[in-house]
Amino acid sequence: MKTEKFLVTGALGCIGTWVARYLVSEGTDFIATDASDDFSRLQLLMNEDEIAKLDFRKVDVTDTESLRNMIDAHSVSHVIHLAGLQVPFCRADPVLGSKVNVTGTISVLEAVRQAGTQIRGLAYASSVAVLGPPELYSTFPVPDDALRRPGTLYGVYKVANEDSALLYWNDWQVASVGLRPYIVYGVGRDQGLTSDIAKSILAAVSGVPFTIQFGGPVALQYTSDVAEMFIRAARSGIEGAAACNIRNDVVSVDDFINVLKNTVPGAEIDCLSTNRLPFPSDLDDSKLREVIGTIPHTALSDAIGETADRFRALISGGKLNRMV
Ligand SMILES: NC(=O)c1ccc[n+]([C@@H]2O[C@H](COP(=O)([O-])OP(=O)(O)OC[C@H]3O[C@@H](n4cnc5c(N)ncnc54)[C@H](O)[C@@H]3O)[C@@H](O)[C@H]2O)c1
Repeated sequence: MKTEKFLVTGALGCIGTWVARYLVSEGTDFIATDASDDFSRLQLLMNEDEIAKLDFRKVDVTDTESLRNMIDAHSVSHVIHLAGLQVPFCRADPVLGSKVNVTGTISVLEAVRQAGTQIRGLAYASSVAVLGPPELYSTFPVPDDALRRPGTLYGVYKVANEDSALLYWNDWQVASVGLRPYIVYGVGRDQGLTSDIAKSILAAVSGVPFTIQFGGPVALQYTSDVAEMFIRAARSGIEGAAACNIRNDVVSVDDFINVLKNTVPGAEIDCLSTNRLPFPSDLDDSKLREVIGTIPHTALSDAIGETADRFRALISGGKLNRMV
């Protein structure tokens, strides 16, 4: 087998730390990059020895030259691009949002293009936010190539990412897989519009009442499964530029709460059931199956149980505060 060397952007974010953990656990060599040097999410998933061994570089994703130099100097073979600003941060500062999310993704595509055939795979984070409101769609499950009509600037930036990736394939044969997470939940998911799902599990184990600020149908995706999807997408050897929906658990927030209450008896969790997320949840994931084969999917009750156990262990080990 040819040697692999991954480069991960946004490696200190929620999905990035799970990708890092996964790569460490399988013994794959990688460079972890992020604009921040706050290791607090990594510390929730890895011990100090594992963290000390990481090859971490503080790099802004818009710095194409640094990306290019790292790819060259370290014979990088695969890139996973996760650096980005989520919906509230793009809304608060649209210019910065476009710089990180649009220019940053062009910077990654450009660095990969310049590296030529050395790069054997690129996976990047798009989002369900490229889609419009559920009423817009009449075919269910909603296909991967359904009309995109984003209702946020963040979604507009992600559409730009998908369209840029397609042009990089058409013009320069830079192959890529864009994944469109819906709600990623697990330890480390602590910010963004939909982080209330993960926060509600922390609240449940802390014995604190919590109201999830939205309700209705959603698609839930466990951090560990999503990390594996990105790694397998980067390794897929795809010829083309795919943009893939992700499904996994299509449930109502009330269903999620019921499973959580079974897992953590006595949990006082509810939701604002009339406040709906503006995306369809019943998504067709056939493109993703085509690209990576069987989709990693931990059963909802197991994923909630695992997350609750991790939160309890982190609290009792003094690594995380109870929610108050
Ligand atoms: N979490 C979800 O449910 C979800 C859903 C849809 C899409 N996504 C996308 O997946 C990606 C990862 O999401 P996440 O939940 O890990 O987000 P996160 O906010 O936890 O992490 C993002 C990381 O990007 C880093 N970053 C920000 N600006 C940067 C810059 N200029 N240069 C380099 N790094 C920078 C941040 O420091 C952070 O560590 C993002 O692109 C996000 O839009 C996430």
